[in-house]
Amino acid sequence: MKLLVTGGAGFIGSNFVHYIARERPDWQVTVLDAITYAGDEKNLKDLSNDKVKLVVGNICDEALVDKLVSETDAVVHYAAESHNDNSLNNPRPFLDTNIIGTYTLIQAARKHKKRFHHISTDEVYGDLELDDPNKFTPDTPYNPSSPYSSTKAGSDLLVRAWVRSFGLQATISNCSNNYGPYQHVEKFIPRQITEILEGRQPRLYGTGEQVRDWIHAEDHSSGVLVILEKGKIGETYLIGADGEKNNKEVVELILKLMGKESTDYLHVNDRPGHDMRYAIDSSKLRTELGWKPKYTNFEEGLKETIAWYTTNESWWKPQKQATEEKYKKVGQ
Ligand code: NAD
Ligand code: TYD
Repeated sequence: MKLLVTGGAGFIGSNFVHYIARERPDWQVTVLDAITYAGDEKNLKDLSNDKVKLVVGNICDEALVDKLVSETDAVVHYAAESHNDNSLNNPRPFLDTNIIGTYTLIQAARKHKKRFHHISTDEVYGDLELDDPNKFTPDTPYNPSSPYSSTKAGSDLLVRAWVRSFGLQATISNCSNNYGPYQHVEKFIPRQITEILEGRQPRLYGTGEQVRDWIHAEDHSSGVLVILEKGKIGETYLIGADGEKNNKEVVELILKLMGKESTDYLHVNDRPGHDMRYAIDSSKLRTELGWKPKYTNFEEGLKETIAWYTTNESWWKPQKQATEEKYKKVGQ
């Protein structure tokens, strides 16, 4: 099996490539990644060059995409501009990569009749009230809030239309918030861990009441592999591990696990249009494809993640100062 993994040098994509190297050691993986500020060749450095090849390039580059798609059996598409806060400050790269990049890939997959799996987010569904008894399902109407989530929603709709109009052999997965190794320090959990490691206080947006449904990146990877191998063409699967926690609880737990007072954090400016709550109903993936998550204890997963950032300072340090300077400008 030859796989083309876009965005495979980013956080979740590189976790997936490591997962494939362990679980399907005879597969060949080509990673197509532009190595933006969010991608890092180092994320793939301990993998065999015989099995995993990195091509540095842009998913909007038609000629390159056409060639790489023609040479593969299947495409798993992770590449995206992925951070809400960046999308509020500068939306344009989100349109280019998330919309035009996805369009470029599905045109090539259509032309060469290749299996395509599109990675998306639960944020396409908008948000839920804190007391809503319902969770997101594959039938929840799209209602995105930010430039990030609206461009991801747009990319999902392109894939759906290409399935219906052109017979694209595609599946889609929408996953909840991921945590684990190799996540950029701009994101919530690594930002707080590295702030504490640098002797500063974690930063909570607004009241911290917002709820996210946390899943370990390895469980996201196992869900994607199941869908790639057993998913039904044209279907959407939601990936989630029943990990709902509010941001305040997460910050307090990180502080406790790092030996600090659980009240030792700052409230900073809230995010404009901040989504209140995400929650995934993953029963379709569990019952139809037999998937289940391995990390069901969030505290254990968080402990491992804290240990990873503690021992991999050289990985995150180069990004840290520039990231904090960006946040400082907007009072966060
Ligand atoms: P990330 O920002 O860590 O990684 C994105 C990767 O894509 C980087 O390696 C970057 O260099 C690459 N990239 C960006 N633009 C590119 C372009 N034009 N051409 C080629 N490569 C490009 O993101 P992530 O958190 O790993 O997210 C990966 C995917 O998973 C995204 O599609 C995202 O929407 C989705 N997702 C993320 C989460 C989450 O919690 N982070 C949850 C659900 C779904
Ligand atoms: P984030 O990791 O940016 O993911 P998303 O926006 O995709 O949910 O943020 C997760 C939650 O944490 C979100 O409610 C915003 C909040 N947050 C903070 O409270 N402080 C921070 O420093 C950051 C980066 C996020």
